[in-house]
Amino acid sequence: MSVEIFENAISLDDREEFLRAQKSGIARTYLRANRKIFEPILRRILTPLGIELNDYYGAILHYVNPAGVHADGMYSTDGTKPSTHTILIPLAVMPIGSETHTVYFEQIDETEEGLNWHGYRRYRAAHASSDTGKIVTDYSELTNLSSEPFDMEIYKKYLSFMDYGHLEGLSIHKIAKWNFGDVVKFESNRLHCSSDYNKFGVQYKNHLLFKALM
Ligand SMILES: [Fe+2]
Repeated sequence: MSVEIFENAISLDDREEFLRAQKSGIARTYLRANRKIFEPILRRILTPLGIELNDYYGAILHYVNPAGVHADGMYSTDGTKPSTHTILIPLAVMPIGSETHTVYFEQIDETEEGLNWHGYRRYRAAHASSDTGKIVTDYSELTNLSSEPFDMEIYKKYLSFMDYGHLEGLSIHKIAKWNFGDVVKFESNRLHCSSDYNKFGVQYKNHLLFKALM
């Protein structure tokens, strides 16, 4: 179980095609609702990586502020505990050449509430792009918390958009810089967040993100 990064797995042409679809209107960006457009491209990208596109749910997203610590939750339509992964494909960052990262923690949410979409709200922290979730300060239901203080240098460099106290009990699995061309696969219930990318000069970032049973 880990975060897998497939380098140079998507061409510039394919990225531009997704960005054009996004520009053409938000209604077209929901992948499943427009499967005729997106599925052939996704299959061409993912099949060589050994990723099968079965049941999935996702969209092309536009973010202007970093997302706080959260798990994506499991995507389950039948109440069983599926093996759900999130696929992240960085598409664009503005200004071009500026840096953004996704920070992955060692901690995984294995609680039952993590099974469904509501679980997505469970670990949504302060400063997330939506204000619908509760602020996270307590990870006590997780089973593999760290007893070490969270790394202060990493906090200052990457995570200073949130309170230091929100990181208590968490430890770093990987800090992955967005490289265009990469396709990233990770467990949907692994806690993760954005880096403090506004501090790196980023005005916005676009990415394709979906959860899939696999
Ligand atoms: Fe996420």
